[in-house]
Amino acid sequence: MLVNFNDMLLKAKENKYAVPHFNINNLEWTKFILEECNELNIPVILGVSEGAVKYMGGYNTVANIVKGLIEDLNIRIDVCLHLDHGSSLENCINAIDAGFSSVMIDASKLPLEENIKITKQVVDYAHERNITVEAEVGHIEENISSEDSRETNAKLEECIKLYEETKIDAIAPALGSVHGFYKGEANLDFERMKQIDEALPIPLVLHGGSGIPEEKIKQAISCGISKINVNTDLQYVWSKEVRKFLEEQKDVYDPRKIIKSGEKAIKEKIDQVVTLFGTRI
Ligand code: 13P
Repeated sequence: MLVNFNDMLLKAKENKYAVPHFNINNLEWTKFILEECNELNIPVILGVSEGAVKYMGGYNTVANIVKGLIEDLNIRIDVCLHLDHGSSLENCINAIDAGFSSVMIDASKLPLEENIKITKQVVDYAHERNITVEAEVGHIEENISSEDSRETNAKLEECIKLYEETKIDAIAPALGSVHGFYKGEANLDFERMKQIDEALPIPLVLHGGSGIPEEKIKQAISCGISKINVNTDLQYVWSKEVRKFLEEQKDVYDPRKIIKSGEKAIKEKIDQVVTLFGTRI
């Protein structure tokens, strides 16, 4: 069933595990993730970046693919369809109107007051329609060392202010994680994470979930992280298998066989990830 993330994340926060957010890129990706999570009987959040929305054809196409697969594959678990890093009120509205059950508004590069203003506008539109909203404080960077990202880490007072003035449903504080592969080791600010968790009643989100050592993922969950975003890990294992398949099977040209050659790797990675996250219903 397509749902917003409130129930799944509040349960995760209370019981100290994390719900996976897996980014989707196409029909097959979505199908593999839904099938595996359904098999494991765990809730899942399908994250779609604006780039992926454009690639797949648009908001309606994405929403219809997800709804169609839920029905045709008889998916019984809770599925949240979530816009990842929405960059404007307009894009969040487009996603909501097309049938997404959740959005992230990422105005984190703007000064706090402006971040709050845009986030509040998104919340007003979303909450009237029972859609959940995630927002970012500080700024999560791309492919830089965790040490360098410290400059843009979230401050406790900023998180409190943004929550109190917008009443978002989940918060993604930048605390040292980065998108893509890490240069050096992930250096997360667990102390700040814990302070934010204690100060706010809403779940915390960890972006850049690929490539963080297992112990640090567990520690992050114990510090209040209830949703962990994973993209690069699935892309990496899939592309590795597809490359191998194409090298070994020089005569194959059926795209279905080529794309499917990475299915097992994606599904195995999902198993690993959700075991580490301790994901339950
Ligand atoms: P990774 O690509 O590092 O797993 O990050 C995914 C993410 O945070 C999407 O919002």
